[in-house]
Amino acid sequence: MEAEDVPEVVLTANGRLGQAVKVITNHQAHKFSLAGVQMKFSMKERDGRYSLAEDNGELGDWIIKTPSTQHVDVPLNEFTAMTLAAMAGVDIPELKLVEMEKLDNLPSIKLPDEKFAFAIKRFDRNNNTRIHMEDFAQVLVKYPHEKYNSANYEQIGRILFQYSGDGLADAQQFARRLLVNILLANGDAHLKNWSLLYKDKITPRLSPAYDIVTTRVYMRDEREYALNLGKTKEWYKVDLSHFEAWAKKADIPWRAIKPHMADVMDRARAQWPQALSNLPMKDGHKELLSQHWQALRADFQI
Ligand SMILES: Nc1ncnc2c1ncn2[C@@H]1O[C@H](COP(=O)(O)OP(=O)(O)O)[C@@H](O)[C@H]1O
Ligand SMILES: [Mg+2]
Repeated sequence: MEAEDVPEVVLTANGRLGQAVKVITNHQAHKFSLAGVQMKFSMKERDGRYSLAEDNGELGDWIIKTPSTQHVDVPLNEFTAMTLAAMAGVDIPELKLVEMEKLDNLPSIKLPDEKFAFAIKRFDRNNNTRIHMEDFAQVLVKYPHEKYNSANYEQIGRILFQYSGDGLADAQQFARRLLVNILLANGDAHLKNWSLLYKDKITPRLSPAYDIVTTRVYMRDEREYALNLGKTKEWYKVDLSHFEAWAKKADIPWRAIKPHMADVMDRARAQWPQALSNLPMKDGHKELLSQHWQALRADFQI
């Protein structure tokens, strides 16, 4: 909507919000994260059942992502992709697939006939207190609609290496995740899917990973990951030399990154094909993921 059409009550409802800005969203319409496609709820778990957190005055300790009305079996996809990521050394929170009937007091929303929701433990909660987190759109002072095109992975890497409480460990983990996102055909690793966590309230650290989904199975013509890395975004063109260029540009010593790339590839090649056959992703999606593995450059083929 036009900025001048925003009702006064909206602008004054929050003390810090004084100015409306029109958001142009057309350019990302083809991307996976279409607003409203998949609903998320912050919920509190008790005896295997989940209820909306605000309803009982407590903070939620799980984020529950219900099935999508637009894309089939997203919860199974995300559970599978995140589990494979963990096998390749990506730091992830506790995950679950929760039967839909275990979710209490959901608002009346349109839901497809699928059995499971995806549940991920909140890392920005410690019992009933909040841990501050900040995503990279916030860090780089970008609007949410700029999340695909206003920055690159060199900028994030440089910030992590320079400012994190453990710059080297976080840069290594970041590089590992970048590669895993390519291997898993996740085209959605944009600025808002990377965050800093301030566990001691002062020192930023890269947060655990979240929102790793094999988006390629929903966007058949998808060929690109979200942000530039070594001047390319193309899954079927990227190889180790782009990661080397990335490290150089981000001022991170390549010799400290290279062994992590090799370790990701060793683990993925040794464990993923077998693991995938036992994970709950939809069969047609497994097939597409295996085809993606074959189509990657030699450095990254599985
Ligand atoms: N485990 C988690 N702990 C804390 N915050 C999280 C967690 N998972 C996701 N989030 C937050 O919730 C937002 C939405 O979750 P995400 O999985 O990215 O869903 P979407 O597919 O809608 O982008 C994220 O951008 C992040 O800020
Ligand atoms: Mg997200």
